[in-house]
Amino acid sequence: MLIKIKRGWEISENRVTPENVFANRRQFMQGALGGAALLGVGIGGAAFAAEGGDPMADLYPGKANPAFGALERPLTPEKLSSTYNNFYEFASHKQISESAQALKTRPWEIRIDGLVRNPQTLDIDRLIRQMPLEERVYRHRCVERWSMVVPWTGFPLAGILKLADPEPEARYVRMETFQNPDIASGQQQFWYPWPYIEGVTVEEAQNDLAFLVTGAYGKPLAKQFGAPLRLALPWKYGFKSIKSIVRFTLTDARPVSFWEQTNAEEYGFWANVNPQVDHPRWSQAVEQPLGTDSTVPSVLFNGYADQVAGLYKNMNGQNIYM
Ligand code: MTE
Repeated sequence: MLIKIKRGWEISENRVTPENVFANRRQFMQGALGGAALLGVGIGGAAFAAEGGDPMADLYPGKANPAFGALERPLTPEKLSSTYNNFYEFASHKQISESAQALKTRPWEIRIDGLVRNPQTLDIDRLIRQMPLEERVYRHRCVERWSMVVPWTGFPLAGILKLADPEPEARYVRMETFQNPDIASGQQQFWYPWPYIEGVTVEEAQNDLAFLVTGAYGKPLAKQFGAPLRLALPWKYGFKSIKSIVRFTLTDARPVSFWEQTNAEEYGFWANVNPQVDHPRWSQAVEQPLGTDSTVPSVLFNGYADQVAGLYKNMNGQNIYM
Protein backbone atom coordinates (compact mmCIF):
# COMPACT_ATOMS: atom_id res chain seq x y z
CA MET A 1 0.00 0.00 0.00
CA LEU A 2 1.28 3.42 -0.89
CA ILE A 3 0.79 5.96 1.83
CA LYS A 4 1.12 9.59 0.89
CA ILE A 5 3.41 11.15 3.43
CA LYS A 6 4.57 14.73 3.32
CA ARG A 7 8.35 14.54 3.45
CA GLY A 8 10.78 17.16 4.54
CA TRP A 9 11.83 17.91 1.00
CA GLU A 10 8.40 19.09 0.10
CA ILE A 11 8.98 22.30 2.01
CA SER A 12 9.43 25.44 -0.02
CA GLU A 13 12.85 26.76 -0.93
CA ASN A 14 12.57 29.77 1.34
CA ARG A 15 12.30 27.45 4.31
CA VAL A 16 15.29 25.41 3.16
CA THR A 17 17.69 28.23 3.91
CA PRO A 18 17.51 29.54 7.43
CA GLU A 19 17.87 33.30 7.52
CA ASN A 20 20.94 34.94 8.98
CA VAL A 21 23.05 31.84 8.48
CA PHE A 22 25.05 32.79 5.45
CA ALA A 23 28.42 33.63 6.91
CA ASN A 24 31.29 35.12 4.96
CA ARG A 25 31.85 32.50 2.27
CA ARG A 26 35.44 33.42 1.63
CA GLN A 27 36.24 32.18 5.10
CA PHE A 28 35.29 28.70 4.03
CA MET A 29 37.11 28.37 0.74
CA GLN A 30 39.15 25.35 -0.20
CA GLY A 31 42.12 26.18 1.96
CA ALA A 32 40.05 24.80 4.79
CA LEU A 33 40.70 21.20 3.74
CA GLY A 34 42.27 19.58 6.75
CA GLY A 35 41.51 22.66 8.79
CA ALA A 36 37.90 21.82 9.37
CA ALA A 37 38.05 22.86 12.99
CA LEU A 38 38.00 26.46 11.77
CA LEU A 39 34.37 26.02 10.88
CA GLY A 40 32.83 26.39 14.28
CA VAL A 41 31.55 23.72 16.61
CA GLY A 42 28.17 22.13 15.99
CA ILE A 43 25.85 20.30 18.32
CA GLY A 44 27.17 16.85 19.11
CA GLY A 45 30.71 17.50 20.25
CA ALA A 46 29.31 18.77 23.52
CA ALA A 47 27.27 15.60 23.99
CA PHE A 48 30.35 13.42 23.62
CA ALA A 49 32.15 15.51 26.20
CA ALA A 50 29.28 14.90 28.61
CA GLU A 51 29.56 11.12 28.05
CA GLY A 52 33.27 11.14 28.81
CA GLY A 53 34.49 11.59 25.25
CA ASP A 54 34.54 9.46 22.15
CA PRO A 55 36.98 6.56 22.60
CA MET A 56 38.33 7.12 19.09
CA ALA A 57 38.88 10.86 19.45
CA ASP A 58 42.66 10.52 19.10
CA LEU A 59 42.25 9.41 15.46
CA TYR A 60 40.92 12.79 14.30
CA PRO A 61 41.41 14.77 12.19
CA GLY A 62 42.23 12.06 9.66
CA LYS A 63 45.03 12.72 7.20
CA ALA A 64 43.61 14.77 4.34
CA ASN A 65 43.54 12.92 1.03
CA PRO A 66 44.31 15.59 -1.60
CA ALA A 67 42.67 13.49 -4.34
CA PHE A 68 39.31 14.39 -2.78
CA GLY A 69 39.66 18.05 -2.11
CA ALA A 70 39.27 20.52 -4.96
CA LEU A 71 35.54 21.00 -5.34
CA GLU A 72 35.45 24.64 -6.43
CA ARG A 73 32.86 25.13 -3.73
CA PRO A 74 33.20 26.34 -0.16
CA LEU A 75 32.84 23.92 2.73
CA THR A 76 29.50 24.11 4.44
CA PRO A 77 29.88 25.52 7.95
CA GLU A 78 29.46 22.78 10.53
CA LYS A 79 26.89 24.85 12.37
CA LEU A 80 24.61 24.54 9.36
CA SER A 81 25.21 20.95 8.31
CA SER A 82 24.91 19.69 11.89
CA THR A 83 21.59 21.42 12.56
CA TYR A 84 19.80 20.70 9.27
CA ASN A 85 19.57 16.94 8.95
CA ASN A 86 17.52 14.14 7.50
CA PHE A 87 17.34 11.35 10.05
CA TYR A 88 13.79 10.04 9.99
CA GLU A 89 14.43 7.81 12.97
CA PHE A 90 14.28 11.00 15.03
CA ALA A 91 11.58 12.92 13.11
CA SER A 92 10.52 13.76 9.58
CA HIS A 93 11.81 17.32 9.79
CA LYS A 94 15.30 18.77 9.78
CA GLN A 95 15.72 19.90 13.38
CA ILE A 96 16.70 16.55 14.88
CA SER A 97 20.18 17.45 16.09
CA GLU A 98 19.10 17.54 19.74
CA SER A 99 16.78 14.53 19.76
CA ALA A 100 19.45 12.47 17.98
CA GLN A 101 21.69 12.87 21.04
CA ALA A 102 19.54 10.12 22.65
CA LEU A 103 21.26 7.62 20.37
CA LYS A 104 23.74 5.54 22.36
CA THR A 105 26.67 4.87 20.05
CA ARG A 106 28.71 2.68 22.44
CA PRO A 107 28.74 -0.26 22.69
CA TRP A 108 27.95 -0.69 18.99
CA GLU A 109 28.31 -3.84 16.99
CA ILE A 110 28.58 -4.25 13.24
CA ARG A 111 27.35 -7.50 11.77
CA ILE A 112 28.79 -8.70 8.44
CA ASP A 113 26.93 -11.68 6.97
CA GLY A 114 25.19 -13.22 3.97
CA LEU A 115 27.12 -14.61 1.00
CA VAL A 116 30.54 -14.23 2.61
CA ARG A 117 33.31 -16.56 3.64
CA ASN A 118 34.02 -14.59 6.81
CA PRO A 119 30.76 -13.73 8.57
CA GLN A 120 31.56 -11.79 11.72
CA THR A 121 30.35 -9.39 14.37
CA LEU A 122 32.76 -6.59 15.10
CA ASP A 123 32.90 -3.99 17.83
CA ILE A 124 32.84 -0.57 16.16
CA ASP A 125 36.03 0.58 17.87
CA ARG A 126 37.91 -2.52 16.73
CA LEU A 127 36.71 -1.88 13.21
CA ILE A 128 37.66 1.81 13.21
CA ARG A 129 41.12 1.10 14.69
CA GLN A 130 41.97 -1.38 11.97
CA MET A 131 40.93 0.82 9.05
CA PRO A 132 43.14 3.45 7.36
CA LEU A 133 41.24 6.64 8.26
CA GLU A 134 41.55 9.64 5.95
CA GLU A 135 39.74 12.91 5.41
CA ARG A 136 37.93 13.57 2.13
CA VAL A 137 35.92 16.62 1.15
CA TYR A 138 32.74 15.44 -0.59
CA ARG A 139 29.73 17.07 -2.13
CA HIS A 140 26.36 15.89 -0.88
CA ARG A 141 23.28 16.44 -3.04
CA CYS A 142 19.90 15.69 -1.50
CA VAL A 143 17.02 14.81 -3.82
CA GLU A 144 15.19 17.66 -2.04
CA ARG A 145 17.58 19.98 -3.94
CA TRP A 146 19.69 21.25 -1.07
CA SER A 147 23.38 20.47 -1.07
CA MET A 148 26.44 20.77 1.10
CA VAL A 149 30.19 20.19 1.07
CA VAL A 150 31.54 18.28 4.06
CA PRO A 151 34.98 17.09 5.19
CA TRP A 152 34.28 13.48 6.17
CA THR A 153 36.78 11.17 7.84
CA GLY A 154 36.49 7.46 7.22
CA PHE A 155 37.63 4.56 5.06
CA PRO A 156 36.55 2.99 1.76
CA LEU A 157 33.48 0.73 1.86
CA ALA A 158 35.66 -1.77 0.00
CA GLY A 159 37.37 -2.37 3.35
CA ILE A 160 34.23 -4.12 4.61
CA LEU A 161 34.14 -6.35 1.54
CA LYS A 162 37.74 -7.29 2.14
CA LEU A 163 36.93 -8.34 5.70
CA ALA A 164 33.86 -10.25 4.51
CA ASP A 165 35.48 -12.07 1.57
CA PRO A 166 32.31 -12.32 -0.56
CA GLU A 167 31.24 -15.55 -2.24
CA PRO A 168 31.25 -15.31 -6.07
CA GLU A 169 27.42 -15.19 -6.18
CA ALA A 170 27.28 -12.02 -4.04
CA ARG A 171 26.06 -9.15 -6.24
CA TYR A 172 24.79 -6.54 -3.77
CA VAL A 173 25.64 -5.06 -0.40
CA ARG A 174 22.56 -4.48 1.74
CA MET A 175 22.99 -2.10 4.69
CA GLU A 176 20.77 -1.67 7.69
CA THR A 177 20.39 1.04 10.36
CA PHE A 178 19.79 0.36 14.08
CA GLN A 179 16.24 -0.11 15.30
CA ASN A 180 15.18 1.15 18.72
CA PRO A 181 11.85 3.00 18.85
CA ASP A 182 12.38 3.71 22.56
CA ILE A 183 15.03 6.28 21.76
CA ALA A 184 14.25 6.95 18.07
CA SER A 185 10.69 8.19 18.22
CA GLY A 186 10.40 8.35 14.43
CA GLN A 187 10.49 4.56 14.46
CA GLN A 188 7.16 4.61 16.25
CA GLN A 189 5.67 5.90 12.98
CA PHE A 190 4.37 2.53 11.90
CA TRP A 191 3.69 3.55 8.29
CA TYR A 192 7.41 3.63 7.53
CA PRO A 193 9.15 0.31 6.76
CA TRP A 194 11.75 0.34 9.55
CA PRO A 195 14.62 -0.27 9.81
CA TYR A 196 16.17 2.05 7.22
CA ILE A 197 17.72 -0.09 4.49
CA GLU A 198 19.96 0.82 1.58
CA GLY A 199 21.88 -1.13 -1.00
CA VAL A 200 24.52 -0.88 -3.70
CA THR A 201 26.03 -3.33 -6.15
CA VAL A 202 29.31 -4.99 -5.24
CA GLU A 203 30.95 -3.00 -8.06
CA GLU A 204 29.64 0.27 -6.61
CA ALA A 205 30.80 -0.75 -3.16
CA GLN A 206 34.27 -1.40 -4.53
CA ASN A 207 34.50 1.97 -6.24
CA ASP A 208 37.01 4.13 -4.41
CA LEU A 209 34.48 6.94 -3.92
CA ALA A 210 32.18 4.76 -1.78
CA PHE A 211 33.21 5.86 1.69
CA LEU A 212 32.26 4.79 5.19
CA VAL A 213 32.27 7.79 7.48
CA THR A 214 33.32 7.77 11.14
CA GLY A 215 34.07 11.47 11.57
CA ALA A 216 33.36 14.93 10.19
CA TYR A 217 34.95 18.35 10.53
CA GLY A 218 38.04 16.83 12.08
CA LYS A 219 36.21 15.05 14.94
CA PRO A 220 34.36 11.81 15.62
CA LEU A 221 31.02 11.80 13.84
CA ALA A 222 28.22 13.70 15.58
CA LYS A 223 25.10 11.62 16.20
CA GLN A 224 22.85 13.60 13.87
CA PHE A 225 25.24 12.81 10.99
CA GLY A 226 24.69 9.08 11.61
CA ALA A 227 27.28 8.07 14.20
CA PRO A 228 29.12 5.87 14.67
CA LEU A 229 29.22 4.70 11.04
CA ARG A 230 27.47 6.09 7.97
CA LEU A 231 27.91 5.86 4.25
CA ALA A 232 28.83 8.65 1.82
CA LEU A 233 28.05 8.01 -1.85
CA PRO A 234 28.61 11.50 -3.26
CA TRP A 235 27.51 10.70 -6.82
CA LYS A 236 24.06 9.56 -5.69
CA TYR A 237 21.18 11.39 -4.08
CA GLY A 238 21.66 11.75 -0.37
CA PHE A 239 19.08 9.18 0.72
CA LYS A 240 21.46 6.42 -0.42
CA SER A 241 23.97 7.52 2.26
CA ILE A 242 22.55 5.43 5.09
CA LYS A 243 23.30 6.46 8.68
CA SER A 244 24.12 4.60 11.90
CA ILE A 245 24.76 1.26 10.19
CA VAL A 246 24.59 -1.97 12.19
CA ARG A 247 24.71 -4.57 9.44
CA PHE A 248 26.22 -5.32 6.03
CA THR A 249 24.75 -8.30 4.18
CA LEU A 250 26.18 -9.60 0.91
CA THR A 251 23.35 -10.96 -1.20
CA ASP A 252 22.38 -12.04 -4.72
CA ALA A 253 18.99 -10.28 -4.45
CA ARG A 254 18.73 -6.55 -5.11
CA PRO A 255 17.88 -4.86 -1.78
CA VAL A 256 14.71 -2.81 -1.60
CA SER A 257 15.55 0.39 0.21
CA PHE A 258 13.50 2.19 2.87
CA TRP A 259 12.44 4.86 0.38
CA GLU A 260 11.87 2.46 -2.50
CA GLN A 261 9.58 0.45 -0.26
CA THR A 262 7.80 3.62 0.85
CA ASN A 263 7.29 4.99 -2.65
CA ALA A 264 8.89 3.07 -5.53
CA GLU A 265 7.59 5.51 -8.13
CA GLU A 266 9.69 8.30 -6.66
CA TYR A 267 12.75 6.55 -5.21
CA GLY A 268 14.57 3.91 -7.18
CA PHE A 269 17.55 1.70 -6.49
CA TRP A 270 20.15 3.60 -8.52
CA ALA A 271 19.45 7.25 -7.68
CA ASN A 272 22.46 8.69 -9.51
CA VAL A 273 22.41 12.48 -9.70
CA ASN A 274 21.37 13.79 -13.10
CA PRO A 275 20.12 17.37 -13.53
CA GLN A 276 18.30 16.37 -16.72
CA VAL A 277 16.17 13.68 -15.13
CA ASP A 278 13.47 15.22 -13.00
CA HIS A 279 12.02 13.70 -9.90
CA PRO A 280 8.30 13.05 -10.53
CA ARG A 281 7.41 16.10 -8.44
CA TRP A 282 10.19 18.58 -9.07
CA SER A 283 13.09 19.48 -11.35
CA GLN A 284 16.62 18.41 -10.43
CA ALA A 285 18.31 21.02 -12.66
CA VAL A 286 19.55 23.18 -9.80
CA GLU A 287 20.39 22.90 -6.13
CA GLN A 288 20.65 25.27 -3.21
CA PRO A 289 23.88 25.05 -1.18
CA LEU A 290 23.02 25.16 2.53
CA GLY A 291 23.56 28.63 3.89
CA THR A 292 23.03 30.43 0.59
CA ASP A 293 19.93 32.07 -0.75
CA SER A 294 20.51 31.20 -4.39
CA THR A 295 20.68 28.10 -6.55
CA VAL A 296 23.53 26.70 -8.66
CA PRO A 297 23.32 24.23 -11.55
CA SER A 298 23.44 20.58 -10.57
CA VAL A 299 25.84 18.32 -12.46
CA LEU A 300 25.81 14.76 -13.75
CA PHE A 301 26.85 12.28 -11.07
CA ASN A 302 27.15 15.30 -8.79
CA GLY A 303 30.51 16.11 -10.39
CA TYR A 304 32.01 12.62 -10.02
CA ALA A 305 31.39 11.27 -13.54
CA ASP A 306 35.10 10.58 -14.16
CA GLN A 307 35.18 8.16 -11.24
CA VAL A 308 31.82 6.43 -11.61
CA ALA A 309 30.27 6.76 -15.09
CA GLY A 310 31.97 3.51 -16.14
CA LEU A 311 29.94 1.60 -13.57
CA TYR A 312 26.78 2.21 -15.58
CA LYS A 313 27.86 1.34 -19.12
CA ASN A 314 25.73 -1.26 -20.90
CA MET A 315 22.78 -0.79 -18.58
CA ASN A 316 20.21 -0.15 -21.26
CA GLY A 317 16.63 -0.15 -20.11
CA GLN A 318 17.39 0.59 -16.47
CA ASN A 319 16.61 4.01 -15.09
CA ILE A 320 19.93 4.64 -13.39
CA TYR A 321 18.96 8.20 -12.47
CA MET A 322 15.89 7.38 -10.42
N1 MTE B 1 19.86 7.27 7.07
C1 MTE B 1 18.95 6.92 7.99
N2 MTE B 1 19.19 5.84 8.76
N3 MTE B 1 17.79 7.62 8.17
C2 MTE B 1 17.48 8.70 7.38
O1 MTE B 1 16.41 9.30 7.54
N4 MTE B 1 18.20 10.15 5.54
C3 MTE B 1 18.94 10.18 4.26
C4 MTE B 1 20.42 9.88 4.50
N5 MTE B 1 20.60 8.74 5.39
C5 MTE B 1 18.43 9.09 6.38
C6 MTE B 1 19.64 8.36 6.28
C7 MTE B 1 18.79 11.43 3.54
S1 MTE B 1 17.29 11.68 2.78
C8 MTE B 1 19.81 12.32 3.44
S2 MTE B 1 19.71 13.67 2.40
C9 MTE B 1 21.03 12.17 4.24
O2 MTE B 1 21.01 11.02 5.09
C10 MTE B 1 21.19 13.41 5.10
O3 MTE B 1 22.42 13.41 5.75
P1 MTE B 1 22.77 14.63 6.71
O4 MTE B 1 21.67 14.74 7.72
O5 MTE B 1 24.07 14.29 7.33
O6 MTE B 1 22.82 15.85 5.87
